[in-house]
Amino acid sequence: MQAHSDQARISGKTVVLVPTMGYLHPGHLSLVAEAKKHGDEVVVSIFVNPAQFGPGEDLEAYPRDFDRDRALCREAGADVIFAPDPDTIYGPGYQTYVTLEKLPQHLCGLSRPVHFRGVATVVTKLFNIVKPHAAVFGQKDYQQLLVIQRVVRDLNFDIDIIGAPIVREPDGLAMSSRNTYLTPDHRRQALCLSRSLDRARERVQAGETDPDRIRREALESIEARPDAVVDYVTLCDPHTLEPVSTLNRPVLMALAVKFGKTRLIDNRILDPRP
Ligand code: PAJ
Repeated sequence: MQAHSDQARISGKTVVLVPTMGYLHPGHLSLVAEAKKHGDEVVVSIFVNPAQFGPGEDLEAYPRDFDRDRALCREAGADVIFAPDPDTIYGPGYQTYVTLEKLPQHLCGLSRPVHFRGVATVVTKLFNIVKPHAAVFGQKDYQQLLVIQRVVRDLNFDIDIIGAPIVREPDGLAMSSRNTYLTPDHRRQALCLSRSLDRARERVQAGETDPDRIRREALESIEARPDAVVDYVTLCDPHTLEPVSTLNRPVLMALAVKFGKTRLIDNRILDPRP
């Protein structure tokens, strides 16, 4: 992969990376389309990264279908698929990790303590292996996008990070490889995530400035679903992820909710300005 990217760079091509864990859906493919706008050679990495799963999480169960992913990548116009074995990425004696001091102390980092260390480490390795000029990440994983932007600034990677909007099912559910775990009943209940973000936006547009009231209303409507277990509902600063006490500028509203073993996340920027 390094030799291939060196060649591409020598011949003047711009290399753009789309990191994924596979089981691709239209959300992933929108990132490939975005990547094509920014370069000549689009590399999709497919790697279910063991380092970002905690004990008891769904590493073994995580859905995989390489043949289907390859066909989808081809259709979407990707040029290269980089799909390494776990042993290639974390060989014997592996012991180097990238950790952030502050961003992981919020939102998903609280219930998934090793997650962002795993993400920051694997993405750093992918950057060194694929040597892209730019890389595309989805706003669906908003905290992950912030973490990557921070790593790139802090470690002086010469790589442009491009954020791409959340792709949703027609009824509003944010697309995710993990949606395949949902039973039909949980799939119906899961609509409460996007609905409570919609409702929050309406409330802010109608002049609500108290983040607590918006948060409580969302909690009530989510907890009214019989199987929803809330991990967090937070309104926070979109750069630092620190909680906010008033809505006088754009804030991030982010949610994580479990249905059975399936943990779903969603988010939206709420902008109080007319
Ligand atoms: P994965 O969950 O496969 O997601 C790969 C990329 O697709 C991420 O940038 C994610 O934000 C984006 N994505 C997922 N669902 C999306 C949707 N509905 N709309 C838009 N973009 C969406 O995120 C990871 O993998 C991993 O943590 C990874 C970055 C590959 C590191 O292992």
